[in-house]
Amino acid sequence: MKISIIILAAGLGKRMCSSLPKVMHPIGGKPMLAHLLCTARALSPTNIYVVQNALSPVLSEFFSSEKGITWVTQAQQLGTADAVKAVIPHLSARKAEDEYVLILCGDTPLVSVELLTRFLSDLDQNKNSQNTIGFISTNVDNPTGLGRVIRNEQNQAVAIVEERDATDSIRTISEVNSGILALSTALLNKLLPKLSNQNAQKEYYLTDLIQLAVAQGISITTTLAPISSEVMGVNTRHQQAEVERFYQQKQVQEIMEKGACVLDPNRVDIRGVLNCGTDVLIDINTIFEGNNTLGARTKIGAHCILINCDISEDVEILPFSFLSGVKIGKHCQIGPYARIRPDTVLADSVKIGNFVEVKKSHIGTESKINHLSYVGDAVIGASVNIGAGTITCNYDGLFKHQTIIEDDVHIGSDTQLVAPVIIRKGTTIAAGSTVTRNTEAGKLTLTQDLNQRVIENWVRPISSERKKSKE
Ligand code: UD1
Ligand code: MG
Repeated sequence: MKISIIILAAGLGKRMCSSLPKVMHPIGGKPMLAHLLCTARALSPTNIYVVQNALSPVLSEFFSSEKGITWVTQAQQLGTADAVKAVIPHLSARKAEDEYVLILCGDTPLVSVELLTRFLSDLDQNKNSQNTIGFISTNVDNPTGLGRVIRNEQNQAVAIVEERDATDSIRTISEVNSGILALSTALLNKLLPKLSNQNAQKEYYLTDLIQLAVAQGISITTTLAPISSEVMGVNTRHQQAEVERFYQQKQVQEIMEKGACVLDPNRVDIRGVLNCGTDVLIDINTIFEGNNTLGARTKIGAHCILINCDISEDVEILPFSFLSGVKIGKHCQIGPYARIRPDTVLADSVKIGNFVEVKKSHIGTESKINHLSYVGDAVIGASVNIGAGTITCNYDGLFKHQTIIEDDVHIGSDTQLVAPVIIRKGTTIAAGSTVTRNTEAGKLTLTQDLNQRVIENWVRPISSERKKSKE
């Protein structure tokens, strides 16, 4: 079955009360339209048409790197049927008469490839499929706002009635239209010009195709979506949040099925791809953005955020840590309250403790930065111990400079390493030093005044008010 896919994305999305086009609002961290484009591609259509409005060419700009999409502009938002009408000249130009058209709504992002494949095969199995319209319906507890499916005594779908045009009795129907529809290009060409806008919203409804087709003896097939959330449309922020929850449940289920232990599946958000080894443990309120990998037995503590991290086996990330663009070797321990920024690589068995920030650095095997430090633009060897409060002074106000710390260095607390500087192998630096020159291997370096002194007759300054109150 040769299909073209039309994605309707030109609506103004007024109910979102937002300056962002509705289909650009994210689900699982990526625009709704991106989900649909991915699904559409998986069906290998001959063409993908996306209908946008004249006000939001931002869509075609945002997706400009995506190949094989024909962007079509709907001049005025006169309804879903009018949006499809904008694509007709493109279909005619391609003489796509023997094709089928699958119409998806840009605000219904989570429809699966499986459901659409079943839907198209339901249509294809129809003897007279060239002269049939198929649509996906579903049953919902609260159908408010959705098009209701009207069936005749033989249980055949004969119309879709929009909420605003429905009588009270029609409004009690719980079977609703998903907005997903398919038919042959020839049939679409024939029926579309016949639709009118005689309804409460004075819009051209695509859903009116059903009644029109039935009146002309054209058959209708419906495919029931067993999980209504999968075909739930997003018109409001509330619905966006509901669709987001459904998406998150699915994501978490997937990693659990592969052997991850998720302490509360309702309190983990995966906004991208998360690959987990077996026996990974994920505590509550954790967020994973972009592409993350967790090796077997790695533990992610509560309230951690990981963005594009590649983490090996047996790593422990303690609570409240924020990691972005980091590659971590085996048996490392990070946090609590650690911040590790992009382009950082930690070798095996590294320890990064609380209130430590690391940026664009390479840290060697078994090295430790346990407390209150900033390490940026550094290359640190193996078995290095960096004391509390150590800072690499990497920025001179104009340029960033590198700090190199070779193997087996011990740096005392509260040390400043003024880059560019090399701390040679085996150096020990005394606490409180400000190191501005390269050190000598195996030696003790110190810069502070070790002669602790007492200043006699020194008076602690006090404010004039305090002085007065004392008098
Ligand atoms: C639509 C269906 C309704 C169904 C519901 C499921 C119609 C008339 N109604 O209602 O039966 O139950 O989806 O979610 O089809 N759009 C355009 N141009 C327009 C108008 C809309 O491109 O002029 C696009 C929107 O961007 C959106 C899609 O079409 O992606 C559906 O439009 P929307 O206004 O969301 O329709 P619903 O009221 O949700
Ligand atoms: Mg909608």
